[in-house]
Amino acid sequence: MAKFDFTKRDSFGSRIGVIAAAAGSAIGLGNIWRFPYVAGENGGGAFLLIYVGFIVLIGVPVMLSEFTIGRRAQRNAYGSFKLLKPKQPWYLIGLMGIAAAFMILAFYSTVAGWTLEYLINAISNNYAGKTPEQLSNMFDSFVSLGFKPVIFQVIFMFLTAWIVYSGVRHGIERYAKILMPILLLIIIVLGIRSVTLEGAGEGLNFLFNPDFSKIDTSTVLEALGQAFFSLSIGMGTLITYGSYINKKENLSTTAFEVSAADTAIAILAGVAIFPAMFAFGVEPNTSGEGLVFKILPLIFNEMPGGFAFQLLFCFLLIVAALTSTISVLEVVVAYFSEELGVGRKIATVIAASSIGFLGIFCTLSFGPLQGLDLFEIFNFTSANILLPLGGLLIVIFVGWFLGRQNVYDEISNSGILKVRLYKVFLIIVRFVAPIAIALVFMHGIGIIRI
Ligand code: PHE
Repeated sequence: MAKFDFTKRDSFGSRIGVIAAAAGSAIGLGNIWRFPYVAGENGGGAFLLIYVGFIVLIGVPVMLSEFTIGRRAQRNAYGSFKLLKPKQPWYLIGLMGIAAAFMILAFYSTVAGWTLEYLINAISNNYAGKTPEQLSNMFDSFVSLGFKPVIFQVIFMFLTAWIVYSGVRHGIERYAKILMPILLLIIIVLGIRSVTLEGAGEGLNFLFNPDFSKIDTSTVLEALGQAFFSLSIGMGTLITYGSYINKKENLSTTAFEVSAADTAIAILAGVAIFPAMFAFGVEPNTSGEGLVFKILPLIFNEMPGGFAFQLLFCFLLIVAALTSTISVLEVVVAYFSEELGVGRKIATVIAASSIGFLGIFCTLSFGPLQGLDLFEIFNFTSANILLPLGGLLIVIFVGWFLGRQNVYDEISNSGILKVRLYKVFLIIVRFVAPIAIALVFMHGIGIIRI
């Protein structure tokens, strides 16, 4: 089998390219589709507070740890651990990440397929004048169809594979730099419309006024899982992207900026969704995975220029989803091509088609295969179990095993950068994050009870 030539690895060309790629990975359906419905099901304000706490305390340090590992080793997620600690089983983190990538991409592409249906409906102006009940029925009957959602999912997987395969990621990054700020702008406009609807105040109250009586241990685990999922951490995506980062970049500011942008977009999505939800009389925990697809059209319907805004929004949502799916597929493709010696193109075809096949079962979980519920199994297991577990091992690795000097060299670019809060980072990766993740995790899945 042909050996991979590591001198010919790809890398990001510029600082803005790094940010665009990492933010592109982080910002996606996790912010706009997953955050609102998970927050809604878990009580709103208190969930948001815990979620943001986890981002700051655990998310940013885990992200920085992943960048550190990847850039140090210049390898895929599995190969990085193999290279840095050859005789120890840390590479299992990489393998776990690859398993997580399979699960995430399988169910994520289901939702990505739904965004294509959303686009088609927006183009045909099918949402105009619809009541909340009608919109809800439209969504529910579409996802239960079977054939059509599967076709859309497959189309989306093709798009993802095509981008990874033909190496136009850099082109995508260039566009993402322009398109993502526009997405941000539309979400802000949506938010303004939403909070000015009659009866919107209750929604703001729901999102920003924490009611801790609604919190239990599973909520805390959901918040941790959502933080990991949204930041794309815990499975090696950012180890892989970190391995393409130039030695001159400042890893800590990158981690900080990407996390801040990601969190801002999730909160803004909440500001757009919840006030509208209350204004239109929809209960926060009743719509499940369909929430944004049922609510957003209602807001656009109430807006001057709503038709055009909705079209643009759908298009940008698809781009945001694509910049995330390519980062997940990249984890698997980098592993296949660097470790198994398969050419990059063949690796892409094998990975995309096997994940696509799994994904079909996720999509059918809403229709003919109801009851199998692979969608929810993958969604729950990846976000709430595999990612936190991966994150736990990653901080332990960086905090205790990678070596102080190595960590310092990588984060400070061999002493050139003054890294404020470096001590805080060390304390977090050595003590705070491992203990916090372990506690939340064991509690959430019922291993311990306090
Ligand atoms: N963070 C992405 C989103 O919010 C999803 C993702 C998870 C991407 C894990 C890569 C790895 O949409």
